[in-house]
Amino acid sequence: MSRNPQEQLVHFLKDMYSVEQQALVQMKSAPDLAGDAGFADDFRKHQTETEQQADLLLKRLEAHGESPSTLQGLIMKLGGKGFLLFAAAMPETPGRLAAHAYSYEAMEWAGYEMLARFAEAAGDTPTVVAARANQAQERTMMERLERHFDNAEQASHRDVATDKMSADLAKHLNEAHALESQAIKLLEKGKDIAGDPPLSGACQQNLADAHEHARLLEQRLKTLGTDTSSLKDTAMGLNGLQWGFFFQSQTDTPAKLAAFAYAFEHLKIAGYELLKRSAQRGGDAETQTLCETLLTGEHAMTERLKGTFDSAAAATLAVVQGE
Ligand SMILES: [Fe+2]
Ligand SMILES: [Fe+2]
Repeated sequence: MSRNPQEQLVHFLKDMYSVEQQALVQMKSAPDLAGDAGFADDFRKHQTETEQQADLLLKRLEAHGESPSTLQGLIMKLGGKGFLLFAAAMPETPGRLAAHAYSYEAMEWAGYEMLARFAEAAGDTPTVVAARANQAQERTMMERLERHFDNAEQASHRDVATDKMSADLAKHLNEAHALESQAIKLLEKGKDIAGDPPLSGACQQNLADAHEHARLLEQRLKTLGTDTSSLKDTAMGLNGLQWGFFFQSQTDTPAKLAAFAYAFEHLKIAGYELLKRSAQRGGDAETQTLCETLLTGEHAMTERLKGTFDSAAAATLAVVQGE
């Protein structure tokens, strides 16, 4: 079924509405897992913001003739699955919660970048304004989460004696390796969706980076005397998070792929920020330096991905019109 810019806008508005409904469930559960009063409070603040965001989207959908009853059906259909998946995937520690939440906010932020572009293409200024307002709140929440990386890492490891940190560090290096391996798998799939030269170029570079990062992590694990023959693909709750499901449902177009890749970069950024702090706690300067190197690469990639958003949105409009 082909979609004109107006139809694509409504379609994407519904997707973002569903993203906000899933966010609401997460915001309600997160304070209990935060392990720190300030951290928990920021989730409560963002719950209120998320309610407002969903309201704004609902108003824009109604302006396009969508009735609340249709949207109710949409939540059941699209959101229902996500709710269950998230419930099954509750992060185990404050560190994991921080990383997952950071990545989710990044996905929302990038989603609003795309929504604003689709609204512009459809000549719908009020939706552009709504998208930018919601997007600003997602960025604010990302900044709040960044300020909690210290607390989250402490809450996750405060009961671990310093001389016992090496086992934890090996575990987290292993998880980071699994995350890079997962990135490799997803980016290999993503190459086929990219359909837009700047985005496919960024995906190729991202893939090469992920291979290099995985190699560096493996090297570090070997130096620490870890047996790397059976590196497990059990990254920070990755299986529980169902990135595969997320990938299918969120990246069927170049715009969603770009937003997804942006979110995945932020999952890795949060992971390395936490690992860097754990390495410092455990007195492992080399792992700390490795994290700095990997972070530089991830940040460069997020900037490159941002540079693809215009052409990814345009490519999406071309793809959906031709369907
Ligand atoms: Fe949101
Ligand atoms: Fe959010």
